[in-house]
Amino acid sequence: MMTKILTGIQASGELHIGNYFGAIKPMLDYQKDEKNEMFFFIADQHALTSLKDPAKFREYSKNAILDWLALGLNPAKSLFYRQSDVPAHTELFWYLLCLAPMGMMERAHSFKDKKAKGLEANAGLFTYPMLMAADILLYSAEKVPVGKDQKQHVEMARDIAQKFNHTFGETFVLPEADIQKNVQTIPGLDGQKMSKSYGNTIPIFAEEKVLRKKIMSIKTESKSLGEPLNPDTCNVFVFHKLFENPNLENLREKYLTGKIGYGDSKKQLFELVWEYFAEARVRREKFAENWGEVENIMQEGAQKAREISQAKLDEVREKIGV
Ligand code: ADP
Ligand code: TRP
Repeated sequence: MMTKILTGIQASGELHIGNYFGAIKPMLDYQKDEKNEMFFFIADQHALTSLKDPAKFREYSKNAILDWLALGLNPAKSLFYRQSDVPAHTELFWYLLCLAPMGMMERAHSFKDKKAKGLEANAGLFTYPMLMAADILLYSAEKVPVGKDQKQHVEMARDIAQKFNHTFGETFVLPEADIQKNVQTIPGLDGQKMSKSYGNTIPIFAEEKVLRKKIMSIKTESKSLGEPLNPDTCNVFVFHKLFENPNLENLREKYLTGKIGYGDSKKQLFELVWEYFAEARVRREKFAENWGEVENIMQEGAQKAREISQAKLDEVREKIGV
């Protein structure tokens, strides 16, 4: 049985190592299984809820496309497109809005959190979950890999699909959020959750100097040289594990016997991370140099996405009587 798996990312800044292990790598792992039918898209219209700068809008979207392709998204296996290239999303959004109870919308944590943080509370931000529901329902997605913060939004998509089905007859597949249970929260440079909003990230495609500086600034306890270190509470060691350091046991031994300091551990980590993304970096440069080809990939993806979504939308219009 084919499983339809869909996810979108809002391109609003540089992708970082937390995004990589929390979201990107799991999606790429799903892509390896022939039984999965994959949909990835850039949620650029969602980004407009906060972004009002056309140059930045284009830049973020372009960077996100290059990052995903470089890291291994294979357009021959996964449908890859921009939300803004597929008008059916915003049309279905309206039909869903007209079914959505105000109470449900008002309970969305994400809107409340963003408003509490002082973000401009526009109506786009408030109705955002119904655009996200349209993104999901048009493709009959069953599984939606997202971070914990997006779980409620996927549940809202499920609720509105159910309401539509009750009101107009069986139309939508009910989607389920797929939260990575065994991926821990990746710590940032300061030890709290790595996040664009905390300015504590290690970007995947940072330049060499920047990456080195970031890694050297990971927060550690102050210890004098020769003192034993605890690998199990060390934020640098966490990354040695994530990046599959081939000498992990040896390094653990050195920590415990005081034969290595944090500075050296960080230097080794830099080499490891730099090497880990080396091939992806080369691929990214190639894609960037051939932007015309990348744009072709995106246009092909958009064309297929328009066909799939339009078929669903026709069904919806018919059911509603439009
Ligand atoms: P950010 O917090 O940097 O804005 P997003 O909210 O855009 O990141 O998250 C995009 C995806 O990356 C989500 O699926 C989220 O769960 C995942 N993710 C983000 N930060 C981390 C982290 N520190 N550890 C694990 N996963 C993360
Ligand atoms: N709201 C998601 C986020 O901020 C991005 C997104 C938009 C999305 N539409 C989606 C995720 C549909 C999954 C499915 O991370």
